[in-house]
Amino acid sequence: MIRKVVGIYYSPAGGAELMTETLVRKIGAILDDCSPLDVSVECHNMLKEQIDSLVFDDETVAVIGMPVYVGKIPLPAAAALRKTAGAGAMTLAVVSYGGRKYGNALFELKRLSEECGFKAIGAGAFMISYMARRGSSRGSAPVIDLEALSDFGKAASEKIKRLAGCEIEELKIKPMPVEVNGRMPVHKISRISPKAAAVAQDIFNRLSVLRRRSEWFL
Ligand SMILES: Cc1cc2nc3c(=O)[nH]c(=O)nc-3n(C[C@H](O)[C@H](O)[C@H](O)COP(=O)(O)O)c2cc1C
Repeated sequence: MIRKVVGIYYSPAGGAELMTETLVRKIGAILDDCSPLDVSVECHNMLKEQIDSLVFDDETVAVIGMPVYVGKIPLPAAAALRKTAGAGAMTLAVVSYGGRKYGNALFELKRLSEECGFKAIGAGAFMISYMARRGSSRGSAPVIDLEALSDFGKAASEKIKRLAGCEIEELKIKPMPVEVNGRMPVHKISRISPKAAAVAQDIFNRLSVLRRRSEWFL
């Protein structure tokens, strides 16, 4: 039985944070509604705290959120995630992106989460745009594709309920492997600090031409 939904995210400009928190709240509410016990929710920001001491188990659902940088996940975020132990917790790997291409980022994040012992049961790439804050020439507030995120949250919750429905290990349904667009990374990007990423984000927003939509896989 699921007792906890935990979000962990890396988010210099706030988009991946919004995506992860929205998803955690949605899934937490759905699971809480149909559970005889309380389902708690919590979120952890990789830029503000160490995540290696977080404890996961098969009664926890983890939502891991990161931004796409040049078709990849950010190196510091990948390094932080590498120090966690998933302990078989069901996991949704999600990336936020500016609607250009998410390249290998989703594939990389799903694979990395599995290497850390999480059981990836779903993945998604969600479009973020940034609207200028009122009265501010710099900086912008992220706006997420809420419709896609809500659809994914509902469908993922149904899958979690099916998979967590049985307490006897041998009788548990084994999920099909989740197929995600992407392949092994073929390029490296240099390390980019969170501060530099936030500045680059501003430039990216100005130059970006939206071509794609959110996509998810279960
Ligand atoms: C350095 C950098 C590289 C980016 N590369 C891509 C990219 O390849 N494709 C894309 O669609 N968006 C790209 N973006 C946009 C971000 O993926 C998107 O805005 C993301 O939501 C940022 O996450 P954050 O708000 O949590 O920092 C890039 C942004 C930055 C700053």
